[in-house]
Amino acid sequence: MTRRSKSSHRWLSRQQRDPYARQAASEGQVSRAHFKLKQLDERFRLLRPGMRVLELGAAPGGWTVYLEERLRGGLLIACDPRPISAGGSAVVIEGEYGDAATDAAIAEALGETRLDLVVSDMAPNISGVRATDQARAMYLADLALDAALRWLQPGGDLVVKLFQGEGVDAWIADVRGRFDKVHLVKPKASRPDSREVYAVARGFSGA
Ligand SMILES: C[S@@+](CC[C@H](N)C(=O)[O-])C[C@H]1O[C@@H](n2cnc3c(N)ncnc32)[C@H](O)[C@@H]1O
Repeated sequence: MTRRSKSSHRWLSRQQRDPYARQAASEGQVSRAHFKLKQLDERFRLLRPGMRVLELGAAPGGWTVYLEERLRGGLLIACDPRPISAGGSAVVIEGEYGDAATDAAIAEALGETRLDLVVSDMAPNISGVRATDQARAMYLADLALDAALRWLQPGGDLVVKLFQGEGVDAWIADVRGRFDKVHLVKPKASRPDSREVYAVARGFSGA
């Protein structure tokens, strides 16, 4: 068996054992990630119809489909360089957050309005070198915070995927200075063996 087919085999057997992967397949969800956002929403009541939301790291589209369902009549801007499966109501921007063209597309979609919520499930391509991967992950968390500082209205919320490790404490301390309350949570659907957690920051101060 080649190295590649061994890792595909491991991935397949992990998917088959994973109750959320099985549930996603049986419900026809785009990805198991859907359940992470659903659990965060059920715990923190993040989403209401009519809200304006920017979603960073949207592909393949598990969160996008959930957001579209929950935001009826609102505005969803979903951004990722990879293709996103969306139901039709989202404004899809195929580009990296941080690029000038992506900024221009977000500004155009928003017009004079500001956002109620920024969500980021962005993750870097994993190199396998722990320090490099952590630095890349923290860079993406910084980009998500940058998006909130630029586009969020006072009182708005921010949800960001983080990977426990170097830089997280300083990032949380920065965010705590800008929001009323910051929670660090691991939804049940997040794989127990992963360092992934989510920061849920409520009540943007405006600065
Ligand atoms: C874990 S996946 C997101 C899964 C998605 N939430 C879902 O429910 O299907 C992480 C995504 O982050 C994206 N990403 C990484 N860097 C990005 C950037 N600078 N701007 C936008 N998306 C980025 C990757 O392309 C990848 O699709």
